[in-house]
Amino acid sequence: MTKITVSPSILSADFCNFGEAVSQIEDSGASWLHMDVMDGSFVPNLTFGPTLVQAIRKQTKLILDVHLMIVQPSRYLQRFIEAGADILTFHYETEIHTHKFLAEIRQLGIKAGIAIVPSTPVSVLEDVLPFIDNVLIMTVDPGFGGQKMIPVCLEKVKKLVKMREEACLDFKISVDGGINEETALQAVKAGADVLVIGSAFFNSKNRQKLINDLIN
Ligand code: DX5
Ligand code: ZN
Repeated sequence: MTKITVSPSILSADFCNFGEAVSQIEDSGASWLHMDVMDGSFVPNLTFGPTLVQAIRKQTKLILDVHLMIVQPSRYLQRFIEAGADILTFHYETEIHTHKFLAEIRQLGIKAGIAIVPSTPVSVLEDVLPFIDNVLIMTVDPGFGGQKMIPVCLEKVKKLVKMREEACLDFKISVDGGINEETALQAVKAGADVLVIGSAFFNSKNRQKLINDLIN
């Protein structure tokens, strides 16, 4: 059985109190912390940048899973490395030279990921899969937390599991958007390894139980 990782997204946290959000994630037993960087250009929302990643890095040893929803993400590689990101996932739709950028991220000693929006097929990733540590399948159109999962996106997870097997690779498959206890089960059945969870995590009354249920 594959081990499931949960990556709570601080996009749904109280923006006046990130320190508290970090403690809530640590106390829940989750091992990753997801950070959604948005530029108001690739997606219709603005959030935060490397400064917050750095501040959170000082607070925690959790794996910082940084999801870049910004145009020309390679401009900011150095900044996110210095800030202390552990995994840097950028969007396929924002970068022409995906192979080069993936290699640069890995050369700097952290994990490299590519995300795709619901309208992008997984087939576009085929040739770069050997250079990826994490494929993030967006299960909503990116930009906001609290949306409903688009179930058809899970077909892409199934396809990716096949592609991974056929190529004998071992990257992780993350799902992001509309994950709750019910949709998490569908995502895990489809083959997801990492569950990014925003609103359902911060709205939960018993986060420890939630994480435990999701992992098991
Ligand atoms: C959306 C972000 C997600 C977001 C998920 O664009 O990429 O990480 O935090 O939030 P929920 O779990 O509420 O859909
Ligand atoms: Zn995200």
